[in-house]
Order: sequence, then structure tokens, then C-alpha cells
Amino acid sequence: MMFIRQLSICLTLLFSPFVASDELQQAAIASAHPLATQAGLEILQQGGNAFDAAVAVSAALAVVEPAGSGLGGGGFWLLHRAEDGFQTMVDGRETAPAAAHRDMYLDDNGKVDKQLSLDGALAAGIPGVPAALDHLSQHYGRLPLTQTLAPAIRYAQQGFSVTKHYQQLAQFRLTTLNQSAEARTTFLTNGQVPELNSKIIQHNLAATLQQLAQHGRAGFYQGEVADKLINSVQQAGGIWTQQDLRNYQVKERTPITGSYQGYKVTSVAPPSSGGIVLLSMLNQLEQLDYQHADIHQQRHLLTEVMRRAYFDRSRYMGDTDFVSVPVQKLSSKTYAKTLAATIDNQLASSSKQLAAPPSKGEDTTHFSIIDNQGNRVSATLSINYPFGSAFVADGTGVLLNDEMDDFSAQIGAANVYGLVGNEANAIEANKRPLSSMSPTFIENDQQLMVIGTPGGSRIITMVLLGILDFINGEDADTIVSKPRFHHQYLPDVIQVETPGFEAAELTALEQRGHNIKPLNRRYGNMQIIIHDKHSNSLTAASDPRGEGMARVH
Ligand code: DON
Repeated sequence: MMFIRQLSICLTLLFSPFVASDELQQAAIASAHPLATQAGLEILQQGGNAFDAAVAVSAALAVVEPAGSGLGGGGFWLLHRAEDGFQTMVDGRETAPAAAHRDMYLDDNGKVDKQLSLDGALAAGIPGVPAALDHLSQHYGRLPLTQTLAPAIRYAQQGFSVTKHYQQLAQFRLTTLNQSAEARTTFLTNGQVPELNSKIIQHNLAATLQQLAQHGRAGFYQGEVADKLINSVQQAGGIWTQQDLRNYQVKERTPITGSYQGYKVTSVAPPSSGGIVLLSMLNQLEQLDYQHADIHQQRHLLTEVMRRAYFDRSRYMGDTDFVSVPVQKLSSKTYAKTLAATIDNQLASSSKQLAAPPSKGEDTTHFSIIDNQGNRVSATLSINYPFGSAFVADGTGVLLNDEMDDFSAQIGAANVYGLVGNEANAIEANKRPLSSMSPTFIENDQQLMVIGTPGGSRIITMVLLGILDFINGEDADTIVSKPRFHHQYLPDVIQVETPGFEAAELTALEQRGHNIKPLNRRYGNMQIIIHDKHSNSLTAASDPRGEGMARVH
């Protein structure tokens, strides 16, 4: 009886022209906040696809995880459409205002004034999230924005509960939040960190979301909301104009693709460095005796490939609409061979000696979705630092980003994540700052993973480690939980999560000549979904370091 049933299922699958090969019995969402995951599930239940759910989750995160992303920020949505296998990257990264110029964050002595690119209205790029949500909805969704933004509007009106994580980040940005009248009243209680479980209600943000729901992008970049944004930014010393808002454009870009050990890797193109750096690291590993090395040797090799890929990041990468980046070369196997050839099997290289340093010239969020048709979204969204610039434009509820700090304020000067950059990432009017956000898909004919995380410069190496664990057969919960380490060329240290590593493990790296920097904290907030193609089942996991929720439905 059982056999007959199975046979008939097999025959149906073989002969039915209506069953797409990607079709699933389940859907899954993993995001950094339970209410955002719930918003996405609600939209799937209403007949929305993964792209509608992505709109709902993005907007919900903008409300309930204000420290991480929002309407005042940007992001990248990597999409896979099941019906035809089409893959694209929706680029809603912020752009520099037209009045921006390369020296805008230098003081009178020509030194970088770090505060200017991090705190307040001058630190903010032109937001891309509202336009990107409209774009996703128009081109890929089934449901109107009035429906997909409804959960976020409800959360803004009814409030969300203050958690420990919120308290920590509000404490971290307390001084700057207090400098913006609307940030102070919205995110603090009498200028102090709000109590645990108290409610953050955002009526102005609800009204702005309603404008977006009713009028699409025009509801944000034109009209009343735009007027308020411009007035408030200019009064606070910012340089945005109405024209900047009107000119903002979402771009669709061809993802970066490559292969590793027979798996297909799909990730993001510039203005993110993520896809190229990731492939460079994987390609180098393929050239090395990595698979058979013991764990200490593997970490040595991983550090060396990280060092070289991040060195290229600092030398070559920027917004390809403005500068030419040798994308093909940097992500090719032949080039990786030349890089890998410079790796000593026993000893650490020195970043200083790798080549001349660049010559002249936390927060953020990630979510992963697969719907029951097999449509997928991997999206990483950001306002950069926790609570972005900590500036809320009066009357809008919109917390602005400080993504301008992702540019190289000066050639060779480190940004807030310690990243150095070259001419390619210098500030220019309308240019997009170089990002590390790396929403990624990896698959072969057995299994598939949708992966991504926040974490500034460490994002790309977290995705790398996650991919290697996945290929190694680890399950979703294990992958998001494993201890992490990171090297980014400069500073020339291995940053390690502590607790996480035994003293002996660190000694093994020191003996090979590496400098260890214990971080005394954990980092990242990875959200993944794995599709096992044999059993056609999904598993999902949300990083235990965060407060997120993963659900298979
Ligand atoms: O685009 C980037 O690379 C950064 N703005 C991301 C910032 C981030 O992930 C902070 N999170 N901890």
C-alpha cells in the first residue's frame, strides 16, 4: 500500500508538467526578530510569495529592530525566482548626496574627524530601503504594499517590547541619541535607556510607512515626507536636497557567481565587496591542502586567504558605477592560484609585507526566506552603526543611516570597522559606499543554503566559515552557533570570539606566527535556511547570539 502511494507520487512528479522541480511542501523564514519573522509568515499565509514576505520582513525590522536597519538605510536583496531560475541582486544601497565631496570629513588639519561620518545628519547617505521595497513589490511580488506593509504599520502603532539587546545598543549610542530631539523621544525614556519590556511606539514612522504603502516610492522621496526629511536634515547641518531624494535609483545587478567543491555559490556584486571577497577566499582554499589539514592548520590557511582577499578589497574595490574594479579577475580561479602560491604552509605572512599599503589615489540585519514554490530571498540591510547616525528627521520617525562612514574618508585611514580603502572607495557625489554585506546562496544537487549576517567587516568571513561548515555536513543550528574568527589584512591580527576558543587552539596559531586579538565578546547574527533536496525538507536557524526567530512552516 505504502509502496503504491510512493510510486504514484513519483509518477506524478515525473509526468506532471505543473510541478516545478523547486516546489516544496514548506516555507521558512529566519530573521533577527520574532515579530519580523511573524510578519513574513503572515504575508505568506495571505498568498504572498517570498518577495512579498521579504518586503514585510524588511519593513517590520525597520520598526522592531531600529538599531539595525530601517527606512533611513539601505541594503541588498539577493533573489532567486523558482519559475525560471532567474537570479538578481536588488541594490538599495545608500548614495552620497550630490554635495558630498572627498574631503568632507576632514578637520582643519586634514585629519579625519570620525564623529562627522558617524553621528548626526551629515553622516547619512540618501536612503535606498523605501525605493527598494517598492521595487521588490512592483517587479517580483504578488500583493500590494498596502498589504505587505500592514504588519510593520501595526507594530509601529502598537509598539514593540524593549529587550536586553536593545538596551545595550541604546546605552552604546545614548549620548548621540540624546542630541536628536525625535530620536530622544522615540527611543529613550527621559533621555535614559528605557526599561526592559517597556514599549517603543512610533506613530510618526507608522504615518511615513502609510505614505509609502499608499503612494509607493513617491510617498517617501517626494511630497510631505520628503519636505520634512530635507528641512530636518538641513537644519541639523546635513547636505541633502530634494533633488537627491528624487534622483535616488534602485539598481538591479547581476550577482557574482562561482563554484567551490562542486557547489554553486551566488552572492552580491559591487557596491558590496562581499561576493568577490568570498569567492576569492574559496578559490584560494581550493588551491591549498585545506580539506585534509588538521583544524589548527585549517585556521592558519583560512587566515592567510582572508588576509589576501581583504587586501584586494582595500586596494581595488568601490562602486563599479564610478570606478572600474577588475571583478572577473579578482573572482577567478587563475588569479586565486597566484594568491595561494604566496601562502606559506607553516608560517603567517605579514600584511605589511604583502605589498605596499594603499597608495594615494553593529548594527545591521539579515533575513533568509524560502517559500513553498522555491522562491528565495537572502537580504542584508543596514543603517551601519547601532542606531545609524542616531538622528531622526523631525516628524518622520525615520532614523537616518551613517553609511557615509563606509567610504574611505581619507586614503588609507581606517573606518569604524578598521577597514582601510583606496581611491576606488573615495567619497564622490551620488556614489555608493563599499559594503561588506554578503547575502549568499550556495547549492549543489543535494542541498542548498540561504545565508547571511550583520557584523561590519567580519560579515564576509562569517559567511565563509558558515559555507565551509555547511559543506562539511553541519546542521543549521550548529552552523549559526560555532565560534568565529576573522582576519581583514589590516590590522594584522586574527580577531577571535572569546569565549569560544581554548587557549591551546590560540597557541597553535601563535606558533605559526599569527597575532591573536581576543575580542572578549561574540559577534554576528546569522540567519540561515537549509533545503535538503533528498527529503525535500527545510531547516532554519537563527544565531543564538541574537534574539531572532527561525520558523519552518
Ligand atoms: O555595509 C557594510 O558593510 C556595513 N555598513 C555593515 C555594518 C554592519 O554590519 C554592522 N553590524 N554589526
